[in-house]
Amino acid sequence: MKEPYYRMDLARIHHEAFGDYADSVAPGVVSLLGAPCNVVELGCGGGALTRHLVAAGHRVIATDASPAMLDITRQTAPEAEIRALELPNDPIPNTDAVVAVGTVFNYLASKTDVERSLVAAARAGDLLVTDILDLSYGDTRPEPVDYFHEGHGWKLWTLNTLEAPDRVVREMTIETRAGVTHERHVNLLVDVEEIASRVGAKVRGSFGDEVLPSGFRVLLASH
Ligand SMILES: C[S@@+](CC[C@H](N)C(=O)[O-])C[C@H]1O[C@@H](n2cnc3c(N)ncnc32)[C@H](O)[C@@H]1O
Repeated sequence: MKEPYYRMDLARIHHEAFGDYADSVAPGVVSLLGAPCNVVELGCGGGALTRHLVAAGHRVIATDASPAMLDITRQTAPEAEIRALELPNDPIPNTDAVVAVGTVFNYLASKTDVERSLVAAARAGDLLVTDILDLSYGDTRPEPVDYFHEGHGWKLWTLNTLEAPDRVVREMTIETRAGVTHERHVNLLVDVEEIASRVGAKVRGSFGDEVLPSGFRVLLASH
């Protein structure tokens, strides 16, 4: 069986060092949602967006495929209901709105899985709000890029490679006091305009006033 993405070490690092993306999109997401309602969040990670949703008065079911991420969300957003939910096969509960940030749908294994999951998410609520990586993400990042980050008790080496026009691979080596672990993440890049037309969603450049990195798009579906 495939190892889940974001096991304990990387889940902690992601939450500690990379929550700023969710913070930056939160005002736009909250404004799109409007009045307090029932929200199912997919790929909630460590709850970086969840806490903003709860603070805005929404009743949130926060879900993710990674048990380590859900453990962190229990601390970050104790008001949310926490559930394990792995796309594309687990059912998405019916709700008012479905939200996912941090390009959750790009982690799926095939274009069919991405489309199937977006359709299910759009059907589960009156509104779907999500971000997604477009094929153009690869145009501006054709060469492999090395990153290094460190924090309290950890170091992270990342190598991002565009392995194919529709596939970015992130090889990560994580060092903590307990030892060294590795994760390899594959993100599928999709033709967002094409998939949006199949799902019945609108494409935007941002959730609100924030500026997203190149190649990121926002999908909005409502009925
Ligand atoms: C880049 S992180 C974003 C986390 C969080 N939303 C944020 O913005 O900080 C992507 C999240 O998607 C989750 N994820 C990846 N594949 C998934 C799948 N098949 N089903 C549900 N969640 C998945 C990961 O576990 C991870 O928490």
